[in-house]
Amino acid sequence: MRVFVDCDPGIDDAVALAYLAARPEVEIVGVGAVFGNNTVEVTALNALRLLDLYGRPDVPVAVGASRPLVQEPRLAGHVHGENGLGDVKLPEPVREPVAESAAELLVRLVRENPGRIDVLAVGPLTNLALALGLEPRLPQLVRRLVVMGGAVEVPGNVSSHAEANIANDPEAAEAVFAAGFDLDLIALDITMRTVATGAWLDRLQEVPGARAQNTSAFLDFYAEFYRGIFGVRQCAMHDPLAAAVLVDPHLVTEAFEAPVRVELTGGLTRGMTVADRRLRPSNDERRAARVVTEVREDEFLDRMLDSLR
Ligand code: BDR
Ligand code: CA
Repeated sequence: MRVFVDCDPGIDDAVALAYLAARPEVEIVGVGAVFGNNTVEVTALNALRLLDLYGRPDVPVAVGASRPLVQEPRLAGHVHGENGLGDVKLPEPVREPVAESAAELLVRLVRENPGRIDVLAVGPLTNLALALGLEPRLPQLVRRLVVMGGAVEVPGNVSSHAEANIANDPEAAEAVFAAGFDLDLIALDITMRTVATGAWLDRLQEVPGARAQNTSAFLDFYAEFYRGIFGVRQCAMHDPLAAAVLVDPHLVTEAFEAPVRVELTGGLTRGMTVADRRLRPSNDERRAARVVTEVREDEFLDRMLDSLR
């Protein structure tokens, strides 16, 4: 399968890339970087560093949006470290990003391969919104879109109701949800319950080699941040779960379908993902998203560990 990854690495973005890079059936056709966990300059460099680390140094990386469509950007150094990778220093990449923007690269690739590319979006959705501006037929050209983002029926993480990827660019997210993609939503509803435990992190620490050892160091930093939330050493696996569901849809054991909208005006709720779950006549003009609510957690975590061996 051919996969375009739009991301803001980002510790959990890194683990998602590690997983995709390790899967023999996955061809990563391109990576778009977006602001989010750090500036887009840093996330693009991190994407290059990570593709080198995970053995895919030939994948094109394109620099995307440096800021949201409307609001001012906010970054997440306290969650992902000053360098976006838990302050773990990786070798400098030997190559540079491509000249096209992330939106341009995505649009070109899907026009060349209509219906044959899946998109994994694990950062703010700004690049996808810009790509929609360049190519309104994007939802028909992309085979399937898996988004990590939102907090549908659980609390948010950057505000009481909003999750980071959506809150970082609510207007972009709303444009993407409105566009009619075949869309799976991997929201905090499932990612906050799908965690790498202390025991799993210990097992990863024992895996030799640069890939596992650097990933282990990233996640150790992440788990210290999450200790403040969970009270124990463990961390949510947001972006890796989205990557795993993209590759193996059978990991999902429960989901509901509903149109999802993003609150753009609420003073307290801006960036909230609102799923309309009423029993309704089938005339909602918005295509429903699949909101994942249960996954095979043990199988997912085993696969993650295997991919780093
Ligand atoms: C999401 O926000 C980012 O900080 C993570 O990389 C993940 O994509 C979780 O809310
Ligand atoms: Ca991310």
